[in-house]
Amino acid sequence: MGKLDGKVALITGAARGQGRSHAERLAEEGADIIGVDICEQIDTVTYPMATSEDLEETVRLVEQRGRRMVAQAVDVRNAPALKSAVAAGVAQLGRLDIVLANAGIMFQGLSPGRDDEAFRDAVEVMLVGVWNTIQAALPTLERQGEGGSIVITSSVNGLKGMVAGTNGGNFGYAAAKHGVVGLMRMYANYLAPQSIRVNTIHPTGVDTPMLAGFAESMATANPALAGGLGNPLPVQLIESRDVSNAIAWLVSDEARYVTGVTLPVDAGACVK
Ligand SMILES: NC(=O)c1ccc[n+]([C@@H]2O[C@H](COP(=O)([O-])OP(=O)(O)OC[C@H]3O[C@@H](n4cnc5c(N)ncnc54)[C@H](O)[C@@H]3O)[C@@H](O)[C@H]2O)c1
Repeated sequence: MGKLDGKVALITGAARGQGRSHAERLAEEGADIIGVDICEQIDTVTYPMATSEDLEETVRLVEQRGRRMVAQAVDVRNAPALKSAVAAGVAQLGRLDIVLANAGIMFQGLSPGRDDEAFRDAVEVMLVGVWNTIQAALPTLERQGEGGSIVITSSVNGLKGMVAGTNGGNFGYAAAKHGVVGLMRMYANYLAPQSIRVNTIHPTGVDTPMLAGFAESMATANPALAGGLGNPLPVQLIESRDVSNAIAWLVSDEARYVTGVTLPVDAGACVK
């Protein structure tokens, strides 16, 4: 018996990295998954983003665990498309209980002159996109009247400024990741009477395709600042599974009175 038997979870950015790991972990606890991902490149992002094949692979991994997954290529910036995708997922899987607003982008190696564009992309994907995700899911959670759990993936950069990385995209990243804490606190108050819990999670560097080359490029660009990327606990990058394990607890009934919390999974990065 799993902690999430009979539940359905919506996960954005589900094609790979942490989103895929959350889909696998929640499926292991008995949840079915509605997964969306843009499956396309965003112009200001210099590393390759996920593909449709990546999203199909997540479906395979969820099914391998005996659960169902409805997967759709959707951009979280597109509110009407996201609403349709959630409705289609709920129609197929029957309900919705858990929302993981996880989709995100990073901006290492941004070309000169693109700061404004990258700042806007960061805020549109990681702040407006989170608003769109919650707005798409809420009518179902409220209609069911059985509570629910929403977790927004922020970052240590949602609790403190970056020690390295000064392009406009990185400013937008930190602004969006701090901004979702405000969204979370508003929703946590607003939704508490309906037993819908809302929390943010704040990972330190995670070993996913987003971060490939980031630490190295910082070390080359500014060795003094890059030293500040280290965590107090002896680990340079944590695994996606470390974040998924915290989320599997946070969305379960074991955390039924935990709401409005900013939960670091950061190997101590925020205390130094
Ligand atoms: N990797 C890290 O070090 C780290 C640290 C702290 C927080 N985070 C956050 O964790 C989350 C997951 O990132 P990850 O590390 O798994 O990186 P990743 O690049 O492997 O995964 C992010 C996923 O989001 C998808 N995505 C991006 N923009 C989208 C959009 N507009 N609509 C729909 N999908 C979109 C991508 O295609 C990709 O599949 C992000 O919000 C990121 O900011 C990452």
